[in-house]
Amino acid sequence: MKIDIVSVFPEYFEVLNLSLMGKAQSKGLLEITAHNLRDWTHDVHHSVDDTPVGGGAGMVMKPEVWAECLDDLLELEPPSENGPAEELAFPSSEAEDSPDEAILDFSEIRDDALLDEDAADVMDRDATVEPDGGSDNGATNGTDMAPTQESAPVLIFPNPSAPLFTQRDATELSHAGHLLFGCGRYEGYDARIPEYYRAQGIDVREYSIGDYVLNGGEVAVSVMLEAITRLMPGFMGNPESIVEESYTGEGALLEHHQYTKPAVWRGISVPEILLSGDHGKVDRFRRDEALARTNDIRPDLIEALDCKALDKADRKT
Ligand code: ADE
Repeated sequence: MKIDIVSVFPEYFEVLNLSLMGKAQSKGLLEITAHNLRDWTHDVHHSVDDTPVGGGAGMVMKPEVWAECLDDLLELEPPSENGPAEELAFPSSEAEDSPDEAILDFSEIRDDALLDEDAADVMDRDATVEPDGGSDNGATNGTDMAPTQESAPVLIFPNPSAPLFTQRDATELSHAGHLLFGCGRYEGYDARIPEYYRAQGIDVREYSIGDYVLNGGEVAVSVMLEAITRLMPGFMGNPESIVEESYTGEGALLEHHQYTKPAVWRGISVPEILLSGDHGKVDRFRRDEALARTNDIRPDLIEALDCKALDKADRKT
């Protein structure tokens, strides 16, 4: 699998030369290259960001620099006409009126009385629809898309405001031939970047790794990469360890507890049944424990369980 990562801190990814990921590279299973986004800048300051249009704190990553970089790495021809680069007059306080047809109708939500009037006003003013009326603004990752093609590149942007990255995504992406990760920093990247590459037919995904905000996408990329690559055939010494893990398979459950020797440690014994040598009973004990732990810790996973993944004895647990 070819993996390109673009970041303003490519040094972050030196850790990928360690441990199993390092071994997978030596074996030729992975070919990882971390690129510095600033290599695609042309100004003396190598600037990659600018102030947010519409106002607000922080800086936003510029689309021009990203596009030069991504066109190169995706081997895409840049458009012959870049379109006029308009310098926007910065609205001082009031946002400028958008054309009527571009404004989303929030009246239903407002009537709902769930939203307070002020909040609805702000959304009314700021929200615009795409010119083609499309609804995929990055809040979804186009799950109706065909499964990942081995040769087609997948462009992935970590983003705290995107759908959650799950084991299912990791499994799907472990079959890809080329992953290209773009790490945002500051207040994020210009939203037209994923929009443009989607329009070019590229499989673009945006993922959050959890409901918290990091300083940038680098750590999120490391997390996703580890989850994806360890599922590749040949990556793990013992592939069975993957099959039995939490979040795997139809009936995704948290895993049962694990113990090693000695049988009694500091007065605490391992569950006796695990020493019985009766594999049927051990399997049943572990399965019951997995179900009970999942019910306690992640009842949402129990809710989402496919009934077909439950056996008769499970239903009694
Ligand atoms: N960038 C900042 N926070 C992030 C998160 N939680 N997930 C993905 N990317 C991020």
